[in-house]
Amino acid sequence: MSKLSLDRILQSQGFGTRKYCRSLIDDGEVAVNGEVIDDYRATLDTEGLTLTVFEEDWLYREHVYIALNKPANIECSRKPSHHPGVLSLLPEQFSWRDVQPVGRLDHDTTGLLLMSDDGPFIHAQSSPKRHIPKIYEASTEEAVSPALIAQLLGGVQLHDEPAPLAAVSCIERGEHLLEIVLEQGKYHQVKRMLAAAGNHCSALHRAAIGRLTLAALDLAPGQWCYLDQAQRDLLVPA
Ligand code: URA
Repeated sequence: MSKLSLDRILQSQGFGTRKYCRSLIDDGEVAVNGEVIDDYRATLDTEGLTLTVFEEDWLYREHVYIALNKPANIECSRKPSHHPGVLSLLPEQFSWRDVQPVGRLDHDTTGLLLMSDDGPFIHAQSSPKRHIPKIYEASTEEAVSPALIAQLLGGVQLHDEPAPLAAVSCIERGEHLLEIVLEQGKYHQVKRMLAAAGNHCSALHRAAIGRLTLAALDLAPGQWCYLDQAQRDLLVPA
């Protein structure tokens, strides 16, 4: 059980600075279990707590774990320069509570992107030591060939890498479509591996991370959802 004052609770959930949260409470904009609480010093048990702020309900969450179906023309960088940032697709509270993408997808890559404000979770998911497979669907400019697949499985040398990088699995899904599974997350890795193998990636989509598939989440491009513990347990090698 964790008891916190109402202003701290609101701040922890990303409703703004402590001062602003106090003003929301003073103004009667915050209710708990249907009852307005206008004393910011009121202490509440956060377990299972639902806050109503501006008549919208928010379940208290110590951390948030989010899956987004990232559309094209959205940047994952903290300071987006040419396209809107990925946080623009989420409620403003998530920016205040420092939700970040777990790894990055290129601005033109679509598909499954995890986001969280839990540092150890972000670190664990990004660690190469955990060998978490990421499943990509890559459209190729030149037709897929057995030689291309053999190169990607055997390893291709990228300019700034000390050793060749290989796909864990590589399956032809169409004349110009490959399913590529990688365990690393190097910069532009799929695109650079395809280029190093003499082809060109014309479109890229991440279909799954570990055993969590985007298809199972049923999110339209731009939509997001919270991930529960059972879904997070799928974010591991098969
Ligand atoms: N590999 C790439 O080239 N781009 C991505 O966005 C992800 C993996």
